[in-house]
Amino acid sequence: MLFKKLPIFVILLFANICVILGERDLPAYYPRCYRDDPDLNQCLLNATEQVRPFLQKGVPELNVPPISPFYVPEVNLQLGTDSISYKSSLTNVTVTGLDTYKFTKFDFDVKKLLFTGAVTMGKINIKGNYSIKGKILTVPIEGKGQLDTTVVSSNGSLVQQAKLVTRRGKTYLESEKTKIHIDVGEVQSKMDGLFDGNEVLAKAADNVIKENLQEIVEEVKPAVEEVFTQIMEGILFKSVYRIPYEKLYPLHNQKS
Ligand SMILES: *[C@@H]1O[C@H](CO)[C@@H](O)[C@H](O)[C@H]1NC(C)=O
Ligand SMILES: *[C@@H]1O[C@H](CO)[C@@H](O)[C@H](O)[C@H]1NC(C)=O
Ligand SMILES: *[C@@H]1O[C@H](CO)[C@@H](O)[C@H](O)[C@H]1NC(C)=O
Ligand SMILES: *[C@@H]1O[C@H](CO)[C@@H](O)[C@H](O)[C@H]1NC(C)=O
Repeated sequence: MLFKKLPIFVILLFANICVILGERDLPAYYPRCYRDDPDLNQCLLNATEQVRPFLQKGVPELNVPPISPFYVPEVNLQLGTDSISYKSSLTNVTVTGLDTYKFTKFDFDVKKLLFTGAVTMGKINIKGNYSIKGKILTVPIEGKGQLDTTVVSSNGSLVQQAKLVTRRGKTYLESEKTKIHIDVGEVQSKMDGLFDGNEVLAKAADNVIKENLQEIVEEVKPAVEEVFTQIMEGILFKSVYRIPYEKLYPLHNQKS
């Protein structure tokens, strides 16, 4: 019997994100790229390297939390496909290694307000408390405990169509549509506590997971892409787009 395809539900809860109402500016120590610079894209690509130490520690001026470790209080996932269906919740999630990003492309097309980025990631580790109930292939899977997942050398791409909006007489960029695509690298995953410690069932489930890990990853990928989209939208773009366009991407000889 085939599972009916259900939509994916992903709900993320972020820590320490309060609504910033006021207008912001790029911190003075940040690199600045001019939108009429013929080398704008190279400048932006350079900037991704220059801001790494700040992102590692977090940028309080922009309400950006530290990215490594990056803490997510809660993620709720629900998925139903032919081979996998589950409802799961992750809490107390710590992600380390997001600062291993290396952008190979970070382009902003000023005319089209189209942003495209490509990134490769080093080693990312995800630890947290999970609870899950569902089915993987034909094997039921249920339990709660600790999850420890490591993913090595993933690649990602990001395309964002932005638009300009005016608020209180100032022009800002706003995300219209963001698409993130991820090619997941090699995955190692461990879940403690399946089936309340019933070792026979847990071992069977563990084996199914191990043997089908890449396939499972492919099935879970849309949910992971959605999680990353929400992280980028909810943390990075939301903060950066509080900076008026004229300050974020100024013109060279602009009066301020
Ligand atoms: C980017 O960084 C390189 C190496 O540090 C430098 O030579 C180049 O001028 C920078 N380019 C821009 C547009 O900032
Ligand atoms: C959250 O995770 C950290 C480290 O992984 C652990 O020390 C702490 O006890 C956890 N907190 C809860 C409420 O589970
Ligand atoms: C959550 O996981 C951490 C380790 O990552 C563990 O120390 C803690 O006891 C767990 N908390 C719960 C409520 O299971
Ligand atoms: C990511 O890109 C690198 C370099 O192009 C490549 O060697 C690697 O196989 C890619 N990884 C995935 C998971 O696609």
